[in-house]
Amino acid sequence: MKSYITTPIFYVNAQPHLGHAYTAVVADTYNRFKKLCGSESRFQTGTDEHGDKIAAAATDNDITPQAYADKISGMFRDCWPHLLIEPDNFIRTTDDAHKKVVGKVLQKLYDAGDIVFSDYSGLYCQGCERFLTEKELVDGLCPDHQKAPEEVTESNYFFKMSKYQDWLIRYIESNPEFITPARYRNEVLAFLAEPLEDLCISRPISRLTWGIPLPFDNNFVTYVWFDALLNYLSGLGYDPDGESGELFEKFWPVAEHVIAKDILKPHAIFWPTMLKAMGVAPYRRLHVHGYWNINETKMSKSIGNVVRPLDMVEEYGADGARYFMLREMSFGLDSSFSSEAVVNRYNSDLANDLGNLFSRTMAMVKKFTDGVVPAPPLEKNEIDSQLQDAADEMIQEYCRRMDDFAFHQALRAVWEVISLANKYIVENAPWELAKDAAKRPRLEAVIYNLLETLRLIALPLHAIMPQTAAKMWEILHVPGPADLKTQGQWGGVLVSGTSVQLDGSLFPRLEKKGADKAVKNSPKQEKSAQGKVKKTAKKPAKTVENSAVTFADFQRYDLRVANIVAAEKIKKSERLLKLTVEAPEQRTIVAGIAEYYSPEEVVGKQVIIVANLPPAKLMGVVSQGMVLAAKDADGHLALSTVSGGVIPAGSKVA
Ligand code: MSP
Repeated sequence: MKSYITTPIFYVNAQPHLGHAYTAVVADTYNRFKKLCGSESRFQTGTDEHGDKIAAAATDNDITPQAYADKISGMFRDCWPHLLIEPDNFIRTTDDAHKKVVGKVLQKLYDAGDIVFSDYSGLYCQGCERFLTEKELVDGLCPDHQKAPEEVTESNYFFKMSKYQDWLIRYIESNPEFITPARYRNEVLAFLAEPLEDLCISRPISRLTWGIPLPFDNNFVTYVWFDALLNYLSGLGYDPDGESGELFEKFWPVAEHVIAKDILKPHAIFWPTMLKAMGVAPYRRLHVHGYWNINETKMSKSIGNVVRPLDMVEEYGADGARYFMLREMSFGLDSSFSSEAVVNRYNSDLANDLGNLFSRTMAMVKKFTDGVVPAPPLEKNEIDSQLQDAADEMIQEYCRRMDDFAFHQALRAVWEVISLANKYIVENAPWELAKDAAKRPRLEAVIYNLLETLRLIALPLHAIMPQTAAKMWEILHVPGPADLKTQGQWGGVLVSGTSVQLDGSLFPRLEKKGADKAVKNSPKQEKSAQGKVKKTAKKPAKTVENSAVTFADFQRYDLRVANIVAAEKIKKSERLLKLTVEAPEQRTIVAGIAEYYSPEEVVGKQVIIVANLPPAKLMGVVSQGMVLAAKDADGHLALSTVSGGVIPAGSKVA
């Protein structure tokens, strides 16, 4: 099995931002997933360095286009490792090998009569670096760049794209997976319902010098898209003279491109018709995602509302940033970025669900099985089978979703098992089993099953959060790099008797910050006259009292049943009681109930707590949560509880 995944090559007129990083994280994740499945996989990214935009940016910066391209290309290359993005090839369109391929392709198509000289007059958008049709304009403006295109009339070379229109329609219609998700396929087919114009592929050097010269007319350079799209082939050592070599033979038949919807037309129309004219098979699949927006507006350099990937890594760690991008965005649709959204996801999914499961399990190994992996159980009951089947099914579901680029759903499948495992702890109450020596085999079985579930969870996570998976494997003493074929089934990998231990936690909780630190406004606003960085971003909106919350918001609250096992008054406080609760682990909660309940009265009561509040110090005591209570208009207070007998401590309230 083989796989070849690419990102667009990014223009070097802007530094990397979250939009670029997302595409690169997606490609890296897919590449890691394919390797996990045992594929020989290749991942290519790079920079697009010719064209009007770069020449203009270089002039603005008073340096040569090449020096400018070197600088910004270096920023992209240096940024990716911070996000654990590991391409096999980083291509630049100023590389000699690439320029040579472009020259040869141009000559070949010219010789074949597919490139012709002609006059043209049209509406040119500098931002898109292409002519737009009247139909593409919204209120006379380019919808992506909000600028009116220029009317340009000049003689140029044209690629006879229209010749391949019927073939392309048939090809897209008979290959439903060629452009995904389906909405973009439909968009392309709708566009192709109108006659295609031929594609202008040159610029006179009187207008643009920063490009690859046409081999058959040195008064012209090639159009930036014609140059750029060929990177996908030149990076594989493709040679139009038939000397392409192994990389091309191996990887081109499985080529998959990831792009955002801004560059759908060049990838879904120009590129396949170019390939057809060149006699090269079409790529396998084109995956199109939506935009990262800030307050409903596309994040982009020209607007200046960008989020810098390195700021994200600094605030949330590489794995935290990657997790957020892949979990928050439904591939194909737009998503909004805010620091608040990242902190919420991080705290609820990573610190609470996964982090707690891992630390609770490790704490139990330490306490109940002398810090070592117990032997695999010889018997299993119904809930063991349920957990085991769910873990096995998780791997299958994950593979299906990852293959469809439905990353958020792949992660959802993993989180279902994390929830189930957290529930398994509550249902089996290992702390109760530990009280009875006769129940030792059952206790060991429960702990083994939890460790095995964690081992299996780390496998799919590797593609998304490589550092976390590596840490989990290291702690569990499981060999990496991972392989779904040999390690993707229940049992047979953990070594009993191995000592396992977790120092600290996988994901320390994040504090919410007032301002969206990661969002940068336009460079002009970024610095004050004194050169100090100003916080110009808006504070996250305050929650309005009594306003509706979404179900997803509600789900972030970790409400649990807790047993109060001890209580005492806090000195010098009329209002506060210090409670020791089990939920199911022991924690201290400071509650403002001393005026209504004595310590003796509350011990033995079952209450409902909010378990995922950040710890807070009250009268010198650290409170790890909050007890819920109801107060009537006359000021009477009653602790909230669950009805219908005793529910195990730690049970979720939902
Ligand atoms: N150089 C061309 C691509 C040539 S590929 C043969 C180009 N470069 S670009 O720097 O503008 O990059 C566009 C791509 O960056 C998008 O397709 C997407 O992958 C990513 N994104 C840039 N802004 C984005 C968002 N706000 N949201 C999501 N992705 C975005 O076009």
